[in-house]
Amino acid sequence: MNSPKRYTVTCALPYANGPLHIGHLAGAYIPGDIYVRYLRAQNKDVLFICGSDEHGVPITIRAKKEGISPQQIVDKYHKMMKDSFQEFGITFDNFSGTSRPIHHQTASDFFTKMYHDGKFIEQVSEQLYDEKAKQFLADRFVTGTCPRCGYEEAYGDQCEKCGASLNATDLINPKSAITGTTPILKRTKHWFLPLDQYNDWLKEWIIKGHKIDWKTNVYGQCKSWIDEGLKPRAVTRDLDWGIPVPLKGAEGKVLYVWFDAPIGYISASKEWAERQGKNWEPYWKDKDTKLIHFIGKDNIVFHCIIFPVMLKAHGEYILPENVPANEFLNLEGKKLSTSKNWAVWLHEYLVDFKGKQDVLRYVITANAPETKDNNFSWKDFQTRNNSELVGIFGNFINRVVVLTQKYYGGIVPAATHYEVIDQEVLDTLKTFPEKISQAIEHFHFREAQIEMLNLARMGNKYLADEEPWKLIKTEPERVKTILNVALQIAAALIPLSKPFLPFTSQKLKDLLQLENDLNWYDPKEGNLLPAGHKIGKAILLFDKIEDEEIQAQLDKLASTKKANEAAAKKEVAPQKEIIEFEDFAKLDLRTAEILEAERIPKSDKLLKFKVDTGIDQRTIVSGIAKQFQPEELIGKKVCIVANLKPRKLRGVMSEGMILMTEDKEGKIVFIEPEEPVQNGNFLQ
Ligand code: 2FM
Ligand code: ZN
Repeated sequence: MNSPKRYTVTCALPYANGPLHIGHLAGAYIPGDIYVRYLRAQNKDVLFICGSDEHGVPITIRAKKEGISPQQIVDKYHKMMKDSFQEFGITFDNFSGTSRPIHHQTASDFFTKMYHDGKFIEQVSEQLYDEKAKQFLADRFVTGTCPRCGYEEAYGDQCEKCGASLNATDLINPKSAITGTTPILKRTKHWFLPLDQYNDWLKEWIIKGHKIDWKTNVYGQCKSWIDEGLKPRAVTRDLDWGIPVPLKGAEGKVLYVWFDAPIGYISASKEWAERQGKNWEPYWKDKDTKLIHFIGKDNIVFHCIIFPVMLKAHGEYILPENVPANEFLNLEGKKLSTSKNWAVWLHEYLVDFKGKQDVLRYVITANAPETKDNNFSWKDFQTRNNSELVGIFGNFINRVVVLTQKYYGGIVPAATHYEVIDQEVLDTLKTFPEKISQAIEHFHFREAQIEMLNLARMGNKYLADEEPWKLIKTEPERVKTILNVALQIAAALIPLSKPFLPFTSQKLKDLLQLENDLNWYDPKEGNLLPAGHKIGKAILLFDKIEDEEIQAQLDKLASTKKANEAAAKKEVAPQKEIIEFEDFAKLDLRTAEILEAERIPKSDKLLKFKVDTGIDQRTIVSGIAKQFQPEELIGKKVCIVANLKPRKLRGVMSEGMILMTEDKEGKIVFIEPEEPVQNGNFLQ
């Protein structure tokens, strides 16, 4: 499609089961936002849609874990995600959610039409059933070994390791994620989408039609699924959270989350249109609309095969023109993981790096996993900020503004005579919009951002070569031209940096005191800042990030790592040998109170306590100095072994032991009486 009338751009609907992290931004949302901002800068008609994915097993599991209802989970995380997107300048036209009535209606209607048109197969089959939990196990309620790659923690609908799309019954050694038991097979009726019937059509559409324009990783995955031969896939589930199957005799069944979620793009468009008083249909039905899905690689099969088959089977909709899926972003060389807390959470970043949203946007794009998995490291984050954003972009702008203020009171000087070097720089400047456009249109956002920075780099080099600060005394006329040229470059960075660094672009626009927005192609026309225009006083666009700030982040990750290792190690120790009651009775376990606490000199591990045991006041030494300050323990009620043979530790005689254990992060916790008790009571 050459020049479409309009664009519908979607980003994967994130599950409303937890906060967002950098992997989300890198996979779909930053590339999507760059693309849309670029289209808008071209005055294209574009609808940018997202929302939270509020059904499916991930929500139910989280609700069980937090002890609240699925709807409460959805409401909590929907808001959190929406806020994070807004803070990071992701400019969705609508961020909806799939538990809303408009979506239930849209998805039900979609299913009903397909049903009446005979697009499903109705089949009673054996599905996995957890006898203990008394429920069928679909999708993430069941894990097991992937039949394709042997990964032992594959989910019932997908293997996150190799990307295989699975049916729960395909798993080897399935295990219920609810009770840990091995499920049995039980008969139940479901509706299946006969993907096998679309094999030929998919071959034509993807293998022949999109070999060239789809990314190699996306095309490759699709081709291998199609070549393997697709199987019918159930689009309903025996669950109680989701959109009820709109058929008689289907009570207790809901639509499969991956059936309803992509329809969420359509309902979010409808919701937007209702709010704006517009018509949503051309955005989904007109052949002159270009539909683009931004997703991460684990979503490829759903967006390139299953959803297109649904759209095709339904019959009224256009198909995606492209699905520029990204690979995964790792953190410090390891896979991001919500459950292992191995992540940079957006809401935490916003607290730790206030006002630095553009820095994260920049670093994520610089390391975008466009063709292979890529890595985010805090050191790289610091280096890119300090040497690229501060050292190149910020430094260039600062120099131009400071010099213009100093020499001309902030008034843009008129160019007097262009030397060859000036002309060359101005000519090169004109090529940037096209260069960046080309990269963005091919979804090469990393390259596009490099070009944008190259523009600032060119400005920096120009100033360094021409050295206006040296010429100001001897050749003042020449300096006017140099600064005029440099100011044109600075102004060109406003539109050209906006898709990547929207907050910085706005600051720059304010700094140069431009009232109207500059267009994408204005740098091609030249004269962005006319002579005589007054610019503002210098402000720093970026701040240096110090080593301590980075260390704090590394420390955070180190303690997560430690906690994970402790949790992994913590297989519950087997029971010790049986003892006689008399042996137990020999132990003098009693309640006590810490009266005094101090460090033992030259030991970073040991604390010395004076403890009131009810019988006496005595000294007990304990190896917990790394985790506790002595002062915080004074007055604490504890449990002790009182009749342990005294022994000397670092020269101090310890006359007993304070009882402790570890929490799930491996931190020491005291065994404390729940209610106030007097000192000296026996434990029994
Ligand atoms: O993988 C996920 O997080 C899914 N919630 C993505 C859904 S995208 C769409 F189809 F809605
Ligand atoms: Zn696998």
